[in-house]
Amino acid sequence: RFPVICIDGPSGAGKGTVTWRLAQALGYQLLDSGALYRIVGLKAFEAGLITADASQVIDEMAVLALTQSLKIAFVPNNASGRVDIIVNSEAIGEQVRNEAVGGYASQIAVFPKVRQALLKLQQDMASRSGLVADGRDMGTVVFPDADVKVFLTASAEARAERRVTQLLNAGQTADFEAILVTIKERDDRDENRSTAPSKPAADALLLDSSNLDADAVYKQVKQYCQD
Ligand code: CDP
Repeated sequence: RFPVICIDGPSGAGKGTVTWRLAQALGYQLLDSGALYRIVGLKAFEAGLITADASQVIDEMAVLALTQSLKIAFVPNNASGRVDIIVNSEAIGEQVRNEAVGGYASQIAVFPKVRQALLKLQQDMASRSGLVADGRDMGTVVFPDADVKVFLTASAEARAERRVTQLLNAGQTADFEAILVTIKERDDRDENRSTAPSKPAADALLLDSSNLDADAVYKQVKQYCQD
């Protein structure tokens, strides 16, 4: 099998940036596992299986059936260096990236059967080329034998601050307190679910990025990969 580097950690810790830069530098493919959960979350929301406020009791079997009905494929995009995710023959749009869809994703990500249905797809990626995998359970469940495992964290406040900056830079409005609440709710759901909770693997290297910029995080993670 090809080398696998896992970058796990909570929302807003900076995984996306470091994963992207590493994949580019090493010539590896990038697995954005969160995008898979986001797609299922969005489709489940559109199908009325979940609500935005997470108040509804969710039918796990219905979400499973929906997950199994999606034809998901990864297609390397040489122009961007990324692996595009194609669902039912259509490239997924930017829509899945917003915070609301992150919330839908974490609602359906609690279900063991849904996670199981997405497992092989993720593992198969490592049979094609070197891989940098971004998620919550890359090092614990999906690639337990990975060559390097990093758990990237930051305080909830630092992560909320970064989201605010991102949104403002994108010309949108941002409310720090509201974002902080959303981040904490999602952390809580991801860390306390019974299947594949978000936590460092026993052999993961922990990196707290609260006081590090993206460059410093990248240099440190690159160093871990060389050690
Ligand atoms: O980019 P951000 O960290 O905000 O979110 P993401 O990585 O796209 O993940 C969205 C949600 O999907 C997370 O809050 C988790 O509930 C779920 N997820 C998961 O359960 N396992 C993964 N490997 C990746 C994401």
